[in-house]
Parts: sequence; C-alpha cells; structure tokens
Amino acid sequence: MHTRRPGLIVALDVSSATRAQEIVAAVGESAFCYKVGMQLYTAEGPQVVRDLVAAGRHVFLDLKYHDIPNTVAAAVREAARLGVSMLTVHASGGSKMLRAATDAARSVKPDLVVLAVTVLTSLTDHDLDNLGVHGRVGDQVLRLAALALANGCQGVIAPARDTARLRTELKDDFVIVTPGVRPLGTAPADQARVVTPREAMAAGATHIVVGRPITEAPDPGAEARAILAEIGSALQPATVGRA
Ligand code: C5P
Repeated sequence: MHTRRPGLIVALDVSSATRAQEIVAAVGESAFCYKVGMQLYTAEGPQVVRDLVAAGRHVFLDLKYHDIPNTVAAAVREAARLGVSMLTVHASGGSKMLRAATDAARSVKPDLVVLAVTVLTSLTDHDLDNLGVHGRVGDQVLRLAALALANGCQGVIAPARDTARLRTELKDDFVIVTPGVRPLGTAPADQARVVTPREAMAAGATHIVVGRPITEAPDPGAEARAILAEIGSALQPATVGRA
C-alpha cells in the first residue's frame, strides 16, 4: 500500500547543480522527493543525482525513457544503480518496453517506483488525430495507464483532470503523480490548467510536483512549508510511493 496523502515532489528545473543544491538546502525535509529532469540532467549529468542520493535525498529521475526495450532496460538499470527512487518511461513505448523497464528496475532496486507518462498534457484530441490515434485524449490516457499497470509500473503521471477517472476505472492502489500544481495565490505561468495542492489531493493524487512556485520563490523553504500546510499533510520521507 502507498500513502494516500500526497507527498510534495519539488522539480529542480534549474541549469546548475549549485542552484539545485541551494534549493534543496532551503526546502530540506519538506520535500518528499526531488525531481531531476531533462534540463538539470543534461546540464550536470549523473553526478547531481549521486550527490543528492549521497545526501540522503530521494530522487525522481524524470527523463521519460522511450526507446526499444533493450535500450530502456539498460538505462533503467543505470538509473537504479544511481540510487533513484522514482523514474519515468513513456507508456506509448508499448508493453514489451514497459515490461523490460519494470523487470530491469526490480533486478537492481526492487523498491524503485517506475511511473508511466501517458499522453503529454500539451497534446489535444486534434494532435492525437494527426498522430493517427483517433478518439479522445482522456480515453487514450486510460488505455495507456492500464497498459502501464498491467506491465509492472507502480503508477502514472496524470493531470488532475484525469485522476478521478483513473481511480474509478482502474484499480485503486497505484501511485498518481500530478504536475501543474499551483498553491493558492500564485501565477499559473505556462501551465494551461492548474490545480491547487488541495484539489490535486481531493482528485486522488498520491504525490504532487511543484517546480517554479518553489524554485523561483524568494524563500523556497517557506513556500514549500506553505504548500504542506495547505494540503494539511504530514510527510513520510522514508516512503516513496508506498507506506
Ligand atoms: O514549474 P512547474 O511547477 O510548472 O513544473 C512542473 C514540472 O512538472 C516540470 O518539471 C514539468 O516537466 C513537469 N510536468 C508537467 N506537466 C506534465 C508532466 C510533467 O508540468 N504533464
């Protein structure tokens, strides 16, 4: 079982390890996990992950792997060896790729949480149609989430608008990580649809991802604590995806 209280994941979307470390120092234990994505990983490489893990932080490596099964499995094994706690793969890589990823994770780090990205939230029904996927985005999200869970993924990344349906139509005990979260009173920036931390929790998320509202705040630590206060949730830093 995982905790149903959403853990705060802070997206370290910055271009230097120095800046990332400043944010981590300010936010500290208020974050359940720190997300290292394409920007920071491309700029600084795996050492930034090793340093966070060595400092006792949980790391969510968000590189959205999508390649042939053998290549994705090899990358997942390397991520597991880095000591990350969560990582992402694209569900549209298909069942063989998903199974290769989850088997690889288990072979190196059995508690590694493999999460699937379903449909990028930037895509519309029309975009899917252009890709040869006919139907509604929401139906494709559901289809890909079911495929991911059937192939060993512990959960999915999903915007709040899809969360309730995933909870209703799929089993109830998987991880849902919701990005696009904005605390009350902050600017939405370029996120087209945003929800508050409390709304994300009510919709069924287990974890929320917050980037710029924390990383660009004058006091990132205070902002993180305010988000925790808003969701009214005590964190359990020792558990990632499971309680
Ligand atoms: O700064 P902000 O809070 O918008 O950061 C959101 C984070 O969540 C970014 O790292 C982004 O890559 C990620 N994300 C997202 N929307 C998705 C999936 C992931 O914003 N649908």
